[in-house]
Amino acid sequence: MKRILMVCLGNICRSPLAHGILESKVNPEKITVDSAGTAAYHVGKLPDERSIEVARKYNINITNQRARKFTVNDFDAFDIIYTMDESNYYNILTLSRGEADTCKVKMILNEVYPDQNNSVPDPYYGGKEGFENVYRMLEEACEIVVNTLDNER
Ligand code: 4NP
Repeated sequence: MKRILMVCLGNICRSPLAHGILESKVNPEKITVDSAGTAAYHVGKLPDERSIEVARKYNINITNQRARKFTVNDFDAFDIIYTMDESNYYNILTLSRGEADTCKVKMILNEVYPDQNNSVPDPYYGGKEGFENVYRMLEEACEIVVNTLDNER
């Protein structure tokens, strides 16, 4: 069983999309997916309406998700921790207890563009098209993630 965690700032826009997209591609007996935020602003809330809407457009339902904050226990509970941007990446590394934790943290777009450290742009203050753009970037990244993991059904 591989356990994958998607992380952004608020856990309401980007990481819920990454969570829903990857979950839709995996065999749940082999891979489990969750998401969290580095900030607590939106804990307990549904994903942003614009994320719900763009996911729904592609037949993915993310309304079962509720925002939560990343905790140090997540280093034990997950095998890979994908961050959406560089600030999430450094915020998570700050909580690392050592090399074993640090090794688990990756920038998700490095799956598409290795070693480039590209960020998934924060769509929160923009319009709907920003969410569509984020969706497409995460769809491409999650397709690669699922193909690199053993997901045999
Ligand atoms: P997310 O987007 O990190 O993709 O969930 C944001 C959500 C909320 C805020 C910022 C980014 N905020 O400032 O409340």
